[in-house]
This record gives sequence, C-alpha cells and structure tokens, in this order.
Amino acid sequence: MQSEPILKIQNIDVFHGGFQAIWNLSMEVREGEACALIGANTAGKSTLLDTINGVNHPKSGSITFMGQDISKLEPFEIVDLGITQVPEGRRLFPEMTVMDNLIMGSYTPNARKHKDKNLQRVFDLFPKLKDRQKQLAKTMSGGEQQMVAIGRGLMAEPQAHHDRRALPGARPHHRG
Ligand SMILES: Nc1ncnc2c1ncn2[C@@H]1O[C@H](COP(=O)(O)OP(=O)(O)O)[C@@H](O)[C@H]1O
Ligand SMILES: [Mg+2]
Repeated sequence: MQSEPILKIQNIDVFHGGFQAIWNLSMEVREGEACALIGANTAGKSTLLDTINGVNHPKSGSITFMGQDISKLEPFEIVDLGITQVPEGRRLFPEMTVMDNLIMGSYTPNARKHKDKNLQRVFDLFPKLKDRQKQLAKTMSGGEQQMVAIGRGLMAEPQAHHDRRALPGARPHHRG
C-alpha cells in the first residue's frame, strides 16, 4: 500500500541573491521512503535541503510537510514539526562531550518532551555512544563522529522515526 506524501514540493524557484539555483522543482517523499537526491556538483542539492529546512525560502512554489505549508517558516519551527537535517561534514560541537552533542539535538520544545526515549533509542542503535558519552566529540574517530551526528539528528524527534523498528531501507519509487 502506498502512503500519502509526507513531504510535497511544488514548482519551487530558489535564488541566492540575484542568482537562481533551483528552477521549477517538484518532488514528493512518502512516509517510510528512503529518497536519494543525485546531482552534479553545483546542481543545487544543498540549496534544496536548506530550502526544505528553512535556511532558504523559495521565491515561488510551495513546500508542504504533513499537509502544512512550511515554505515561509523558520528553521527552528520546521525542526519542531519533525524535519531533521544531518549536515554534510557532521558539524559536531568539537569541544563538547558526546552526550552534550546529543542533548543539543533535543533543543526544541517537542523534542525536549521525548528526550529520554530518544536517547535510549540512539544508545540502542549505537551502543558505542553509550560507552563514550563523556568523551569529547573531537576525539572520536570519523565513523564514531558520524554516529554522533546521526544520533543528534534522531534526538530532534524527527517525524515518525520511532514508529519503525529499523531505519527504513531504500525502496524504488517509480515516477511517471
Ligand atoms: N549563499 C550563496 N550565495 C550565492 N550563490 C550560492 C550560495 N549557495 C549556493 N550558491 C550557488 O548555487 C549553486 C548550487 O549550489 P549548491 O546547492 O551548494 O550545489 P550542490 O550542493 O548540488 O553541489 C552553485 O552555483 C552555488 O555556487
Ligand atoms: Mg552540496
């Protein structure tokens, strides 16, 4: 059974000042779907992710998340609705411990309510982080830091992630 799109992007144009980076882009992501966006360097992938999370705003078109237009909302509001970005290059707080990096992920009001449950889930997924919770993030290996970055993202209570036993696998999505 195919679910309704949880994220629906319709005909967006996105500019950096006078430079147009995205032209009339439309796409949908369904609940439980793993969706990969592939494009050449400078194609606009990062611009699109930053437009979904509210760092950029589309000049025209709309972005709807669970039926709500989020295209004019600010990043903190979008995170609280349940969209989390795990950034390229991890962007951890290097001088803070693993635990404090994870807790930073649960900063929004909604995530704060679910902090203990999400911390347990992150430790279930990455038992190493439980052992190393007092270690400074900068002293973790590259792969361990990646676990912290993903764990911090999960601490933000992204929509519906906790309803699934495992992280969703890729599923081919035929369009057109
Ligand atoms: N803040 C910005 N100011 C001006 N141009 C930008 C800015 N961010 C990105 N761009 C330009 O937008 C285009 C798309 O960049 P980007 O979205 O980072 O591409 P990708 O992530 O697919 O490699 C590039 O030509 C880039 O130089
Ligand atoms: Mg990029």
